[in-house]
Amino acid sequence: MRYFTRRPIIVSSRITPLTIIHFTRGAMTAAAAAAAAAAAATATKATTGPAPWRKLFLEHVQAMPSPELSLSTVRKTTSPSTGTVRYSPRVRTCIFRGLFAELPANPKNDAELNPDGVYESDYLTLTTDRRMDKVAEFFGVEAGSGKEEEEKMLRGSGGGGPVEAVFWVKETGTQWRVRGSAYVLAPDIEDDSSSGGKETIATLLSRMRRKGRDEDDKKKEKEKEKGWSFSREITAHFGNLSPLMRGSFRNPPPGRPIAAPLPGDDDDDDDGDDQKLLGQKVPGLDDEVARANFRVVVVVPEEVDRTDLSDPTRGRRWRYTYVGDGTEPEAPGGVVEDGWEVVEVWP
Ligand SMILES: Cc1cc2nc3c(=O)[nH]c(=O)nc-3n(C[C@H](O)[C@H](O)[C@H](O)COP(=O)(O)O)c2cc1C
Repeated sequence: MRYFTRRPIIVSSRITPLTIIHFTRGAMTAAAAAAAAAAAATATKATTGPAPWRKLFLEHVQAMPSPELSLSTVRKTTSPSTGTVRYSPRVRTCIFRGLFAELPANPKNDAELNPDGVYESDYLTLTTDRRMDKVAEFFGVEAGSGKEEEEKMLRGSGGGGPVEAVFWVKETGTQWRVRGSAYVLAPDIEDDSSSGGKETIATLLSRMRRKGRDEDDKKKEKEKEKGWSFSREITAHFGNLSPLMRGSFRNPPPGRPIAAPLPGDDDDDDDGDDQKLLGQKVPGLDDEVARANFRVVVVVPEEVDRTDLSDPTRGRRWRYTYVGDGTEPEAPGGVVEDGWEVVEVWP
């Protein structure tokens, strides 16, 4: 399928608040706080249209038997012997849970859903367990460092570390590589005392779009917007999982040696009791332990690389870079469309 054709440069007069804030610390600097406040103030004015890769990307993902992706992160480690800090890649399989603020319908989900038709975004959504290494990598800190401040930060919302999500869509012969920043939505996301929560919300809102711009609908939209919440979105994602998947957030800490005693486990008779800790089912939405470990991860894309190898005689490749509205293209042959520079490159 040939989706992208060379189109005239679209330079919109609309103003886009391009306030992407990268942070890896829970505490905000004064400058970051000001930027977050500015982003929040302008968030509802985000008017750029859907990303030019969005429609085709969703069509391709829907063609996959299971929406699996490889997610890469950067891991920080310090050598215990020399103290040398090293950054190395980590990649693992994850499931794509749809674009943020557009939860796929699941009739078995009992959670109260956010009102439909308020926001849409071009952000990828994943779910994970806060105790997994990738969460520290989203925050740019060392996993299991034992530093109290970092451990505290990892329990809350925030992050912004660099990631790449790769989808090989065999059905369409296309590889999609989505590069951006990953933000973690934790139970504190809307707490007044959570600077990580505030900053994450401001960052995400800065590029989320309000649906329905019709003048007549504006009043209704305002009402709906009031009823839209990030916390509800987290619960809705939890509710979208099967009871068995929800139960996995009650598992013993991922990556911990099985032979190491678990907190509260005083029986060392090695009788296999621990196995009952796996395979638990959580039928409801309020299980405290599971909810404390469950996280929604939102990837804000900055660059998308689409390689179409469906025609073996003529591979084609496009690079989409987020530049914001009103920006002139820089690459030869590039066009700017809805805030993204699109350029065809050699495969
Ligand atoms: C098919 C498949 C789907 C998976 N989906 C997820 C997922 O959506 N989220 C997740 O955190 N881990 C998922 N995992 C497990 C990860 O691949 C990985 O083992 C785990 O998250 C620990 O990774 P980490 O220690 O690098 O954080 C999946 C594994 C497989 C094989």
